Amino acid sequence: MINTAVKAARRAAAVINRASFDLDRLIVTEKNHKDFATDVDQAAEQAIIEVLSKAYPDHAFLGEESGASANAHDEAEYTWIIDPIDGTTNFMHGFPQYAISIALSQRGVITQSVVYDPVRNDLFTATKGAGAYLNEKRIRVGKLDRIANALLATGYQVGNPAALKEYLEMYGIMAERCQGVRRAGSAALDLAYVACGRLDGFYEKGLKPWDIAGGALLVTEAGGIVAEFNGESDYLYKGDIIAGSPKIFGQMVGLLTPYA
Ligand code: IPD
Repeated sequence: MINTAVKAARRAAAVINRASFDLDRLIVTEKNHKDFATDVDQAAEQAIIEVLSKAYPDHAFLGEESGASANAHDEAEYTWIIDPIDGTTNFMHGFPQYAISIALSQRGVITQSVVYDPVRNDLFTATKGAGAYLNEKRIRVGKLDRIANALLATGYQVGNPAALKEYLEMYGIMAERCQGVRRAGSAALDLAYVACGRLDGFYEKGLKPWDIAGGALLVTEAGGIVAEFNGESDYLYKGDIIAGSPKIFGQMVGLLTPYA
């Protein structure tokens, strides 16, 4: 299954890379206020679904662009959760920080994940119980003990004034406690970077399952912890998430629980 998901991600990457040379031709739609999709997001998602549905005709899909297929529901045996371009705004501007995220949910538990950065050719994969990998090399979360030495990341869905106040407050608190807080614009890559130790932790509120599903399994399979702001495990559909290496995660939760 992971090989099929990788094949689907590479097929989508071909669509995305071809388009990235001629961004002036992108057809952009604003789905919600400052929430964009392009014709390339749609074409990449179709390429992914084509590969997966050919291999697994009975599986369901939950895609950022096409929504839930008719057979998708919480108890479905297999549902592929797809974000064809996580970081669409970055992609539209040629800012090289975006990724394809594909995850398999088996009766609500994520068991396979691929996060692929087509710019750097970084292929992150994980299978539940079998570890996380970057370009086929085993990865593990960072080893830092103290948040004072950590590099963190966060994100914000632009265009929501109520959430902005809270985002800025949290940013102030976290930035004072660590070495830096990045806001690079792709939650899937932020999580993948936590998994391989390029970042020590990540937090964001208001995400969607397709932003999180792939990256979260990478983190847990790399020895990290992922939870909701109150420490509970139902982050996937709630969308508020804290992820980190075990020691940094604990310190992040301590600072962020007032925002649960
Ligand atoms: C976005 C990215 C970004 C996060 C936004 C998401 P999209 O996903 O993950 O990092 O801050 O909240 O919507 O829309 O580019 O797939």
